[in-house]
Amino acid sequence: MTITRTSHPTLPLADRAASLVGSVIDSSTSLLAGQTHDIVRLAMGSPAREAIPAAALAEVAPAAIGAGSADAFDYAATEGDPALREALLAMLEGTSDATTADRLTITAGGMQGLDLANKLFVDPGDLVAVESPTYTNGSATALSYQARLLEVPVDHEGMVVEQLRALGEARGRPKVIYTIPTFQNPSGATMSRARREALLELAREWGSVVVDDDPYRMLGFADEEVPSLHELADGDPLVFSVRTFSKIIAPGLRVGWVDTDPSLQPLLINAKQAMDTCTNLPMQRLVAAFLQAGHLQEHVAVQRQEYRRRKEAMQQALAEHLSDVARWTDPEGGFFLWVTLEGGGADGGPPDTEALFPVALAEGVAYIPGNAFSAEGRFPDALRLCFASTPPDRIHEGVRRLRVALDRMGTGA
Ligand SMILES: Cc1ncc(COP(=O)(O)O)c(C=O)c1O
Repeated sequence: MTITRTSHPTLPLADRAASLVGSVIDSSTSLLAGQTHDIVRLAMGSPAREAIPAAALAEVAPAAIGAGSADAFDYAATEGDPALREALLAMLEGTSDATTADRLTITAGGMQGLDLANKLFVDPGDLVAVESPTYTNGSATALSYQARLLEVPVDHEGMVVEQLRALGEARGRPKVIYTIPTFQNPSGATMSRARREALLELAREWGSVVVDDDPYRMLGFADEEVPSLHELADGDPLVFSVRTFSKIIAPGLRVGWVDTDPSLQPLLINAKQAMDTCTNLPMQRLVAAFLQAGHLQEHVAVQRQEYRRRKEAMQQALAEHLSDVARWTDPEGGFFLWVTLEGGGADGGPPDTEALFPVALAEGVAYIPGNAFSAEGRFPDALRLCFASTPPDRIHEGVRRLRVALDRMGTGA
C-alpha cells in the first residue's frame, strides 16, 4: 500500500524527514473510522474490545491514581515508577523473560522501545536486517534513523537465519537485526529454538545487536513455549528486548518496557529524557495496580483460549471459502494469520491485494494488504488477517465477504 513520505514545498526540513514513512497499519484506523457501512474489521492488530479488562482496570483505578491526590499526576522517574517496576519484576519471575531491576526501563509502549533501540544503535546508512514480511512500524523506526534495510525471508520457523548469513555476506553485515520471534506480526510464525540459537551465534560472530521484539509471547495457545531470545542470550549485551502491555492488557495504556544490558541504562535515560521525560505516570500506576491485584494471569489465560477459538474459526472459514485460491499459516498464538492468494485474479493468477482492498472494503471486510509489510513492497499476493479482535460468527462473515470481493475482481464485476 502506498507509503507516505514526508516532504514540504517551502520549509527547510532535515534530510531525516524524507525518511519518515507513515504506517499503512495505523492509517487503517482512521480510514475505517470514516466508513459508515458494516465492516468486519480484520485489519488492525488490537485485542478484542471485550478482551480489554475495562472493569478490572476501573476497579483498581481510584486506588492506583489516588482519588483526589495530585501524587500520580507529577513527573515520574525516567526509568519508570517504582511501583510498576516492582510489580513487573514479580510478574516476570519464573518466566522466560525473568529479569533484574538494573535491566529494566519502562517505556511508552513497544514502539518507544523500538525507537530507543534504533536511536542508540543506528547511524544514517547503517544496515538493519528485518524479517520479510515484518511489522513495518518497526522497520519504519529504523528508516526514521536513516537505516538501509536488508529484508530476510521468513518461513514457518521464523527468520531464515542461513539466508540472513548469505545476505549479510553479500551485502554487508547488518549492525542491527530486528526480529519478532514469537507469533510474528504479520506471518504468525514462531522462530524455532534452533533458529534462535543460530541467530544469537551469528549476531555474536558479526557483533550485531539483536532487537528482540516479542509482544505476543504470553498469548500462546499451547502450554509449551520456545525460550525467549532474552533467556537464550543469558545476559549477552547484544540482545535488546522490547516488550509491551498493549496486547496483554490494552494498547491505549501506552505502557511497555525494555530489557537491556545494565550498561545501556544511562544512555536509555538520556535518550528518554530528551524525548518524553518519563512515561505517563497515571497509566504506569494503573498497570501496577492491575498486576498487584493479581488480575493478569487469569486475564491472559482466558484470552489465550478465546484467541485460539477465533483462530480456528478463521481457519474453518478460509477452508470453506478460499481453499481453491489461497493458502494460509497456522499460528500457535498471537493475533495474526497470513494468507497468500494463488489464484482468483482476472488472468487466473492471484490478484494484487492492494487493488482488492477497496473492493473488499465496499463488500464490508477490511484487512491489511501484504505489501504493507515490506519496505520494498513485496507480497502483493498476500494479506494479513487479525483473528483476535472479532468473534467467530463475524469472522465467518468477513471471510465470506472476502470471497465475494475476490470473485468480483476475478470477473471484473
Ligand atoms: C511486533 C510488534 N511490535 C511492537 C508493536 C507496538 O506495540 P505498542 O502498541 O505497545 O507500541 C506491535 C503492535 O502491533 C507489534 O505487533
